[in-house]
Amino acid sequence: MSVASQTPAGRLPPGVKAPPFMQAALFLLYRDKLLTRTRRRFGDVFTVNLPVFGKSVIVARPDLVKRVFTAPGDVLVFGEISPLGDLIGPGSLFSMDGEQHLRERRLILPAFHGERMKGYEAIIEAEAQREMAAWPEGQSFPTMPGFMRITLNSILRTVFGAQAKDLADLAEVLPPLVTLASRLTLLPLLRRDLGPGSPGRKLKRLRERYDSIIDRMIDAGLADPDLDERDDVMSMLLRAHYDDGSSMSRGAIKDELLTLLAAGHETTATSLAWAVERLRRNPWILRRLVAEARDESAGNTLRMATIQEVQRCRPVIPATGRHALEDFPLGEWVVPKGHHIVVAARMIHHDPRFFELPLQFQPDRFLGVKPDTYTWVPFGGGLRRCPGAAFAHMEMDVVLRVLLRSFDLESTDAEGEAWKDRGVAFAPGDGGLAVLSRRPGAAAAAPAASDYVAAVA
Ligand code: HEM
Repeated sequence: MSVASQTPAGRLPPGVKAPPFMQAALFLLYRDKLLTRTRRRFGDVFTVNLPVFGKSVIVARPDLVKRVFTAPGDVLVFGEISPLGDLIGPGSLFSMDGEQHLRERRLILPAFHGERMKGYEAIIEAEAQREMAAWPEGQSFPTMPGFMRITLNSILRTVFGAQAKDLADLAEVLPPLVTLASRLTLLPLLRRDLGPGSPGRKLKRLRERYDSIIDRMIDAGLADPDLDERDDVMSMLLRAHYDDGSSMSRGAIKDELLTLLAAGHETTATSLAWAVERLRRNPWILRRLVAEARDESAGNTLRMATIQEVQRCRPVIPATGRHALEDFPLGEWVVPKGHHIVVAARMIHHDPRFFELPLQFQPDRFLGVKPDTYTWVPFGGGLRRCPGAAFAHMEMDVVLRVLLRSFDLESTDAEGEAWKDRGVAFAPGDGGLAVLSRRPGAAAAAPAASDYVAAVA
């Protein structure tokens, strides 16, 4: 590959000049190596050709990350290029930009604020206890499927407000729908309905089943005299009004609930699996966490710092993207209209200039310290920052507490698990393997509650 000539000020950042298809192929095959080498060669800001997105400027410098995250929402957009938005529908936050995006976020954000989260804790604790009651002892097993069941059921109950048959039906249809959609995220051609047996046909059928369940739930919600008493997100959306007094359409509610599930289920489960993977390899942190979790009066300061550190060293969404609708000044460069800008969270998180000994797992770095807005970016930032961040933190906190109180987790000196691309999130390659022994007194019964759902593989 030949190197682009020294980039003059006010132009596109430097990058490799290989044909686009070759760069895209190399990216698909050797993503990490390609990005690491290109960065080494050109510095913190460089241009590459990405599959699907095309010419993209990768940004791994906090001052420029700030510039990207604070740009107006109608200059740097995302909805226009979002494959997930395209898959889910026009009523998804992922599909929206500018004023429409702000309007939708104003409607949704109150559902994820502090006090409301408290009300969800008991549901999540119950889901974690029920799932972990069936976990094996004394043998190595991947925790990821169990965490997926916990996060799925938790979202179905707290966000969808689903119970009984609705809960069971959604738990049956959503995992295959989300898994297939994730696999097709970067393969738009395969999303088309190409007849029986094609992935596109399968996707269509699953989506039709999902829509009919939500229709049924919306009908029941609208007919429910106690709708105002409910505190799940769906009931809130049914009651909510935009600034002009209009309410959300059925289509918008369906798309938005699916968005919350697609965005919040696997991301949280993979982060939990990484927590197990990291803690087994850092027994001195594990010991302190166990002591904190088992002391009723100790709070959760170290657990929260640990969650932040897991997200720093293993960000499950390693990068977030924007699309420039006009020429966009970025430091000494100008990103031309039509290019993408990618904030490289993982590169920044692993940069010794911003985090001392970045490859070491050190939750203490976050004890009593609020992570910096532009160097700690696992939830993205600015107008599109993850609205479910508080929910995800509360959920991880509660699930880890149940785990640490119920079990002793065996440490290991095995090599760390590799990153595995699951379409939406990057997961530990072996699924976050654990070896557990149940603590005396911790429940070990098979799951029994009537609304237990175990549909996630
Ligand atoms: C550990 C768990 C999670 C991680 C790592 C994560 C990460 C992210 C990231 C990186 C973005 C893109 C932000 C940007 O472009 O600047 C995002 C967006 C989003 N997340 Fe999360 N997320 C998590 C959990 C959740 C949960 C639990 C929910 C809801 C229940 C959720 C809902 C959303 C939504 C709706 C968006 C789109 C926001 C928009 O476009 O305005 N996420 N998330």
